[in-house]
Amino acid sequence: MEHPHKGRMTRDGIRIHEDGDFVGMHAAGELAATILDKVAPHVVPGTTTEKLDQLITDMVEAAGAKSATIGYKGYKHASCISVNHVVCHGIPGPKTLKDGDILNVDVTVIVDGWFGDTSRMYVAGKPNRKAERLIQVTHDALFKGIEQVKPGNTFGDIGYAIQKYVESNRMSVVRDFCGHGLGRVFHAPPNVLHYGRPGTNAILEEGMFFTIEPMVNLGRPETKVLADDWTAVTRDKSLSAQFEHSVGVTSDGVEIFTLSPSDMYHPTYL
Ligand code: MF3
Ligand code: CO
Ligand code: CO
Repeated sequence: MEHPHKGRMTRDGIRIHEDGDFVGMHAAGELAATILDKVAPHVVPGTTTEKLDQLITDMVEAAGAKSATIGYKGYKHASCISVNHVVCHGIPGPKTLKDGDILNVDVTVIVDGWFGDTSRMYVAGKPNRKAERLIQVTHDALFKGIEQVKPGNTFGDIGYAIQKYVESNRMSVVRDFCGHGLGRVFHAPPNVLHYGRPGTNAILEEGMFFTIEPMVNLGRPETKVLADDWTAVTRDKSLSAQFEHSVGVTSDGVEIFTLSPSDMYHPTYL
């Protein structure tokens, strides 16, 4: 057996990891976050999303790590890059970015068998005021969710905090995609919904690892997937934003595995 599975599983099939497993998640998360830091100066009008993806491919390789997305369900790239009204799973391509475009870059790497999954928003040039507000609200919504992460709270508490914050800002939370458990696997139970009611769904326990990755639309929440079978867009063509962190539940709260080592995560960095 290559990886004897220590730890246990809850009734909902959520793995409870051991203390030492946090070390592996930190290494994977730090690489993913460092890669996103290094992407930032390259996001300029005139570049293409496939150039950004090539940079990411090179950085994963230079780190001696593996991309979790290349070969995943037939996906061929080291990142998803979702521009403007693309909600998630945008495929890198030859389209050039223009001034004011907003984009999410989502990277998942495997380091020593552990998965680090994170995404954040960038702007090519200068965002307009609405786009900037969308990015800020989405970022802050993720942290409203993260604030709920501690033993005894529920996944419904996380979703409720995110939904309440987003809707109080007159924006909408995407229902068609969710966060997920991860660890030595990319996607595991539970589905981490970004909406919901307090006190519902599974109870958080120390040793659970999962992502929180809210997608927020300026318009309506509905999405559709394009004919390429990946690209998800807003049905009403409104702008969409997303931030994602991989986190672990500790004895009294949360550890974020994918914090930016250069503190470049917050959108006001832009
Ligand atoms: N990183 C995405 C997530 O947050 C998954 C991308 S799968 C891919 O779960 F195949 F589209 F890359
Ligand atoms: Co994810
Ligand atoms: Co991701």
